[in-house]
Amino acid sequence: MALIRWIKPDSFVIDVGTDHAYLPIALIDRKITHKILAIDNNYKPLVKGRHNIRLAGYTDLIQLRFNDGLKNINFTGDEVIVIAGMGGVLISNILQEAKSRFQKNQTFILQPNWTWYELRKWLADNGFQIEQEQVIKEQNKFYSQLLVKYTGEKYAITDTEAFCGININIDDNSKLNFDPASTNSEDDSPLAVYSAYLSRLKRLAERKSRSIALYHKIRQDIESMIAKLYSD
Ligand SMILES: C[S@@+](CC[C@H](N)C(=O)[O-])C[C@H]1O[C@@H](n2cnc3c(N)ncnc32)[C@H](O)[C@@H]1O
Repeated sequence: MALIRWIKPDSFVIDVGTDHAYLPIALIDRKITHKILAIDNNYKPLVKGRHNIRLAGYTDLIQLRFNDGLKNINFTGDEVIVIAGMGGVLISNILQEAKSRFQKNQTFILQPNWTWYELRKWLADNGFQIEQEQVIKEQNKFYSQLLVKYTGEKYAITDTEAFCGININIDDNSKLNFDPASTNSEDDSPLAVYSAYLSRLKRLAERKSRSIALYHKIRQDIESMIAKLYSD
């Protein structure tokens, strides 16, 4: 649901790792687009996706394909490519394989559930601009979602940016809490969610700093970011 806000009406969406096919179904339910290619490289998710699509009555509308990432697919540049709910290294491997076929300004929506540091570094090294990020809290877990454009121009990104994200618009995160248990209390305000996200990352950086030196600096930076949140 949170990813959908970035998908413009009538776009052609390629959902890589569609699994249950919730995203394609939601796109049609909300009349955003019916031009969708849903991909998975495992049979069980494909069976589940096909079942959900049939229940929704969209069998004729959604193309469901067994495929490894974006292999053998060519792009016009108009497609919005969504890769969500897997590790950042796997996402970067999928992008790497298809990179020579992407067009300039091609749009991607990415949600790395782990190894997000590696993904952001790879994006910067390979000319994928992170235009915006949003932080989602669901059932006490945090997810960062990235809106990305392929420019082909590499850029520098610090270790702290790669770990915590860049271009996060905190105010934009309002109404992005889809936690059914949520009470919509103060704790769900965009600032509170962002601050809790940073605190979670700080604890993670603390643990990692015991074996990886660069996380000392990341942890210190996060501390300053949290302090700044409440002083501005
Ligand atoms: C945890 S699910 C994510 C589902 C959904 N995208 C979401 O965010 O809720 C990850 C899915 O990615 C699929 N997957 C993993 N590697 C893939 C690849 N190389 N190509 C296509 N699908 C892949 C898995 O089979 C699985 O169904």
